[in-house]
Amino acid sequence: MAIACGVDFGTSNSTVGWVQPGQPVMLGLEDGKVTLPSVVFFNADDEVVRYGRAALADYLAGYEGRLMRSMKSLLGTSLMEGQTEVAGRALPFRTLLAQFIGELKHRAEQAAGREFSSAVFGRPVHFIDDNPVHDQLAQDTLEQIARSVGYKDVAFQFEPIAAAFDYESQISREELVLIADIGGGTSDFSLLRLSPQRAAKVERRDDILANGGVHIGGTDFDKYLSLASVMPLLGYGSRLRNNSEVPSSYYFNLATWHTINQAYTKKASLQLADLLRDAAEQDKLQRLQNLIDDRAGHWLALQVEQGKISLSDAEQAVLELDRLAPPVALEITRAQFDAASEQLVSSVENTVQALLRDAGVAPDAVDTVFFTGGSSGVRLLRERIAALVPTARRVEGDLFGSIGAGLALDAARKFG
Ligand SMILES: Nc1ncnc2c1ncn2[C@@H]1O[C@H](COP(=O)(O)OP(=O)(O)OP(=O)(O)O)[C@@H](O)[C@H]1O
Ligand SMILES: [Mg+2]
Repeated sequence: MAIACGVDFGTSNSTVGWVQPGQPVMLGLEDGKVTLPSVVFFNADDEVVRYGRAALADYLAGYEGRLMRSMKSLLGTSLMEGQTEVAGRALPFRTLLAQFIGELKHRAEQAAGREFSSAVFGRPVHFIDDNPVHDQLAQDTLEQIARSVGYKDVAFQFEPIAAAFDYESQISREELVLIADIGGGTSDFSLLRLSPQRAAKVERRDDILANGGVHIGGTDFDKYLSLASVMPLLGYGSRLRNNSEVPSSYYFNLATWHTINQAYTKKASLQLADLLRDAAEQDKLQRLQNLIDDRAGHWLALQVEQGKISLSDAEQAVLELDRLAPPVALEITRAQFDAASEQLVSSVENTVQALLRDAGVAPDAVDTVFFTGGSSGVRLLRERIAALVPTARRVEGDLFGSIGAGLALDAARKFG
């Protein structure tokens, strides 16, 4: 029996899988569901830490406390050594992250009915863009945390390579495949030769033609959509009485999942009080003040995210912003979202083009483009990536399970 598991610690969702005779099996982590949203809520009323959907539910029910989502985005940054505070208690981010990774392990072991001592953790091709030192720091921090919660052997695998292993287990002949894993925090790509025969080899270096990635994912689409649609309601882009623009840093923090809590610090409150006094459009800044007092930053980001997801199927959506004072029903459209995300989409496009160039592969030599990750649902992005390999067959994997399944296969191969 395997004692190794594959851990996909995602920006938005996490999974743990293992191989049970020959097949990857994903473990139930929350009420039988195989994903645990990467969310921690420190409930200050009850002095307990909650995880996943339960964490979001406690926060939305209005318990006093602190919510953390997108913790993976802290890895490799100076914010990692910081903390947030609630009810006089300091909550270091490193501790919150270790609690989450430990909880993932514990729940996986409960579901499997045995302990896991070895793990292959997925990692993006770049945790941090264009900075190998910080990128290595991110992996080292994750490894330290994994060891601190009880994993004795820890290995890493690029997330898109893991997705490739999952796809490879479903094919019957050789293909040249572009894997596109568009997650919550990063967009990751690998170009590989896959086949059932090659799958049996231990050393796959020759089969991997190129890897590439960029720190752009669903949380960035949320941010850009928020800045284009919702933040102006709270005063973003408005003026002070001296005609200068209201500083934007406040809105950037509030629109970025992993920095929302910074809007609640004492320093930020004092700044906001000044702004409110000097604002030309007081009603907007007052709305912002109410939102902050209500600790509703994550609630607002969730509404924007939900709207974004709706726009994957519909041409327009309505955000019911009923916690704003006064409540607002805000219509957003696909066209508005596309315009807001153009810059993100073109950066991802550049990443794929560079990868094809690095590999020395002509676009029409690619047989298949395999999409996984929740943000591969973003229409514009998916179309633009697919257009770079116009003759490739498009295959959609399990958007939330392919990486985990591939990591489980890799763990079985690496640790037996
Ligand atoms: N139908 C959809 N259309 C667009 N985006 C979606 C859809 N469903 C989910 N998402 C987005 O997908 C993201 C989560 O995807 P996923 O679970 O693959 O990320 P992750 O693995 O946690 O992140 P990463 O791999 O970058 O660390 C979120 O930003 C979510 O808003
Ligand atoms: Mg992922």
